[in-house]
Amino acid sequence: MTSISQLRTAVVIGSTRTVRLGRGVAEWVAADPNPDLDLEVVDLAEMDLPLLDEPEPPAWGNYAHETTRAWSAVIGGFDAFVLVTPEYNHSTSAALKNALDHLYAEWADKAVAFVGYGIEGGTRAVEHLRAICSELAMAGVGPQVSLRLGDDLPDGRCAPREAQVAARGRMLAALARWGGALRPLRSTPELLGDETRPALERPELRPHAAAAVDQLVADLQAGLDGADADRYDASFAADVLWGSPYGVTLTGTDDLLPVHRSLMAARAAPPSRFEVVELRAPLPGIAIAHVRRQALDETGEGFSEMALYVLVEREGRWWLAAGQNTPIAAPSR
Ligand SMILES: Cc1cc2nc3c(=O)[nH]c(=O)nc-3n(C[C@H](O)[C@H](O)[C@H](O)COP(=O)(O)O)c2cc1C
Repeated sequence: MTSISQLRTAVVIGSTRTVRLGRGVAEWVAADPNPDLDLEVVDLAEMDLPLLDEPEPPAWGNYAHETTRAWSAVIGGFDAFVLVTPEYNHSTSAALKNALDHLYAEWADKAVAFVGYGIEGGTRAVEHLRAICSELAMAGVGPQVSLRLGDDLPDGRCAPREAQVAARGRMLAALARWGGALRPLRSTPELLGDETRPALERPELRPHAAAAVDQLVADLQAGLDGADADRYDASFAADVLWGSPYGVTLTGTDDLLPVHRSLMAARAAPPSRFEVVELRAPLPGIAIAHVRRQALDETGEGFSEMALYVLVEREGRWWLAAGQNTPIAAPSR
């Protein structure tokens, strides 16, 4: 059973062939008694991942395919990894590279160790993997295991020499150290309710969320400038929840759009400038923003308000799910 302090560690079998050495090697790795790691074999062959066909870059975390979501749930649940790779033509397997390419945030800020095997120990495969993992923001530990087919995998059996058992121990000890050190960078469910509060922001999602908020602000600005309520409301979801500055809750565009139309027709708001003050991107497809709207009158003391907006991405388009407007009596900077 995993203890709270153990790192949940996936030992990923990098070979998907029906007849393979990879499973035996992964099981040998997972048999190490390291007390700081809860080692679990993960078999790529059971995940049935197709060749990568996600419409959006995986770093955005917005997965279209059920197979990717299932893989994301598996990998997202681990704190650290041991990648067990065969050497195919002086590199890692296409299956492992494909599996790595499918995700991003689920790998990032986690420690990774490498076990290579092949005629000469699989070291060239591991070198390539190290470069790939570094691009995925993983921390690759130095000590590694290199199993030679003739010496450590005789007759298709996984029976590594004594020195390899020691190398496995050194590698996993390094993985436990780095995996533990990286804990504060990850907001995992186990941190909830512990002394540490999780920071929900996921930096890799921020650029995508920021572009969505910029688009919303551009619509609001153009709508107000042109007294065009349809442009102003262009990205409001049908069931948008809207808190007015006067304590009224409006539910849905049927309630909200007539109000905006009449305010626009009356040119109730003076010329104003919208500006994004802060942003949070806690999950794929969710953006939360604080947006200031400041009147452009000469005194600078005209109508201004702060709005909290929640945007949700649905099938590649962002929608305003909720907004709350708070008037500010005087500009506060
Ligand atoms: C497509 C292919 C390419 C290979 N290329 C290499 C290689 O470059 N270097 C090496 O040491 N072994 C190479 N081998 C031999 C593998 O190390 C050996 O077949 C091993 O069992 C593969 O791991 P697996 O059984 O878990 O798939 C290759 C094997 C295959 C199938």
